Amino acid sequence: MCIDGPTASGKGAVAKLVSEALGFAYLDSGVLYRLVALQALRAGWADDRLLSENDELQLAQWAAELDVRFDGEQVLLNSENVALDIREERVGNMASKIAVSATLRSALLERQRAFAQGAGLVADGRDMGSVVFPDAPLKIFLQASAEVRAERRYKQLIAKGFSANMVDLLQDLNERDARDANRTQAPLKPAQDAYILDSSDLTLLETVDVVLKMYAQQVGNI
Ligand code: DC
Repeated sequence: MCIDGPTASGKGAVAKLVSEALGFAYLDSGVLYRLVALQALRAGWADDRLLSENDELQLAQWAAELDVRFDGEQVLLNSENVALDIREERVGNMASKIAVSATLRSALLERQRAFAQGAGLVADGRDMGSVVFPDAPLKIFLQASAEVRAERRYKQLIAKGFSANMVDLLQDLNERDARDANRTQAPLKPAQDAYILDSSDLTLLETVDVVLKMYAQQVGNI
């Protein structure tokens, strides 16, 4: 099953709970982009860097050599737990910037598809339904208004001990939406056969419930 949507739409939390309810594996594809972004930032790339052809090759190389392991809440990059680092806003923004690169996207394609083994998979991202898993039995595009999403992101960051400011968050979020939606490679948009679900007025658990009902209706077996 694919759950795509804009930043802070709640797709990550929903996808994780849905995967647990169904006993499926879970792929947060944004983590892969964030891990490459973290490497770029650590290599000293400024966030307004214009990507050259060499930069794109470097990104693809980092992606191909990504030594990552998921262990519970831990995200181990070369054995270092970077679970908190990759959640920083600057890493998310850098991820959105490098995600315009077709070379990087294709370097990450097979890695993402490799998660689809075993009982089943819930994958969340921007292009799970449109590009990575076109044959998924259920595709959902999860939306929420920009204000609701900024507020959710604010609470998430504060809960994790980061500082945050609503005005900046709303601006970053609008910029990131525009960049993710307007890029030529796998832009953020619902797959043709995706169901659009607006969660602005739903709690997390209500949204999970709706998704599970859609799955039962569409695919059965639960
Ligand atoms: O879902 P997220 O906020 O963790 O993703 C961070 C950025 O990575 C997002 O702004 C765009 C990029 N991304 C992408 O281009 N395609 C995906 N499938 C997932 C993330």
